[in-house]
Amino acid sequence: MDSAWTYLLFSTIILLPAYLLLWRRRSPTATENLPPGPPGWPVFGNMFDLGSMPHVTLTGLKKDYGPVVWLRIGSINTMVLLNAKSAAEHFKNHDVNFAERNIIEVMKSQDFHKSSVSLSPYGPYWRVMKRIMTVEMLVHKRINETAGIRRRCIADMVDWIGNEAGRIHVGRFVFLASFNMLGNLMLSRDLVSPDSEKGAEFFNAMVEFMEVSGRPNIVDLFPSLKWMDPQGLRRKIDGGLGKTLEIVAGFVAERIKERELNGGGKKDFLEVLLESGGNGTDDSENISAHNLNTVIMEVFLAGTETTSSSIEWAMVELLSHPEAMYKAKNEIAQLVGKGEKFEEIHIDNLPFLQAVIKETLRLHPPIPFLVPRRAIQETKFMGYHIPKDTQLFVNVWAIGRDPECWEDPSSFKPERFIGSSIDYKGQNFELLPFGAGRRICAGIPLAHRMLHLVLGTLLHEFDWEIDEVGRKAIMDTRERMGVTVRKLVPLEAIAKKRLA
Ligand code: HEM
Repeated sequence: MDSAWTYLLFSTIILLPAYLLLWRRRSPTATENLPPGPPGWPVFGNMFDLGSMPHVTLTGLKKDYGPVVWLRIGSINTMVLLNAKSAAEHFKNHDVNFAERNIIEVMKSQDFHKSSVSLSPYGPYWRVMKRIMTVEMLVHKRINETAGIRRRCIADMVDWIGNEAGRIHVGRFVFLASFNMLGNLMLSRDLVSPDSEKGAEFFNAMVEFMEVSGRPNIVDLFPSLKWMDPQGLRRKIDGGLGKTLEIVAGFVAERIKERELNGGGKKDFLEVLLESGGNGTDDSENISAHNLNTVIMEVFLAGTETTSSSIEWAMVELLSHPEAMYKAKNEIAQLVGKGEKFEEIHIDNLPFLQAVIKETLRLHPPIPFLVPRRAIQETKFMGYHIPKDTQLFVNVWAIGRDPECWEDPSSFKPERFIGSSIDYKGQNFELLPFGAGRRICAGIPLAHRMLHLVLGTLLHEFDWEIDEVGRKAIMDTRERMGVTVRKLVPLEAIAKKRLA
């Protein structure tokens, strides 16, 4: 018996690599009429070809396979679009067929994939919630009404930074400021204030949720391993998300009591949700208590890391391009007096600052594949046959650097947007940091304000310097994948308060 086991073990060790080698060179065949793509291993497919920065690795496939590439990642069929032309074809003619999301395992926790706007199935619930978000909550009029809230949060950020001596971790301060802004816009609460115990608990639980949900999970590639939860990620998320939702439910209950006592009157987004049919109980017609709490939480997930990662990259680019830094600061100085505050009303009159934000999002989109979509039914795409349930990556990182659309694509040149009508609102397929089509980002008007307000204030209030540590961080352009893509080595810079 012993020798039989030894024989089996040895033959497996010897034969498995041979088996894998023999089968490795399997590409999509012409008879399947799938898009071309690199050959994959049995079982694992192209999993090992992705590397630590898949958006960068996949961009390199365009020269061998063209702009529409086919991969099998574990057991998931995946189509990747790598240029503006194929993205335009997708958004103009096939958007509805890919309007479902590909759901990763941890997002099934607490039914997040059914209650959130970003992942809920393309159907009546998504339609109602997206309308409330885009037409009631995140529309310009409401955003204008809440300018005072953002002004106060920005003043806090300036104080926090001003009180620091030496190098600061720029992204972390912007993350805190964005979190604080969203907390006040959603719930009229200072969630990062040391006086708010519940706020601190919520902040910590959210940060943990973002961190764990961004980790790669083997179960997403091999759904048959779901029962085992080998990395324990689902268990972790179940607990963390449950706690976060419980805290939000407490905030909502307090508001409902307050409304009963004095009729409400706050101008925040929770008020909009309550007015739009959420009443904090499960017998609400449109929005159940669970849905309401999930959507509140989702706004933090959607708006904090995306904003802070973009500002961190904008600062990295400006610090490594002193002439652009000078131009941006000078433009602001011409418009805003030294003793005055940078305000949202200034944004429209700052074309160079707007160009800096566009150029940053072109080179460093925080969600480089968009939120992955899924084919609702089998379809023909640019002559190829695409099976039902195929996952779709629109690689907006590759599109932003496509030499067919951009001159000198990897250089940071904000000037390219001066006098150009190219914008990031989903109409120009060469610049898609917020996506396009039916599932385009719901928060563009708010993100637009936050990005310009935060960067404009950082430039107006402080002069920025870097030492050797900062210089090294700037040179290192590696990124790390998570819920969003962030700089791997965080930018640390020295902020010197400008005197009035
Ligand atoms: C720099 C900031 C931001 C960036 C770069 C960004 C980017 C994106 C992207 C790429 C998508 C997927 C679009 C697609 O699949 O076509 C998305 C979806 C979404 N974003 Fe944003 N976002 C930002 C800020 C925000 C903010 C502040 C909010 C809310 C307050 C928000 C709410 C949403 C929602 C709800 C969706 C899902 C839309 C749907 O599935 O229908 N985002 N965002």
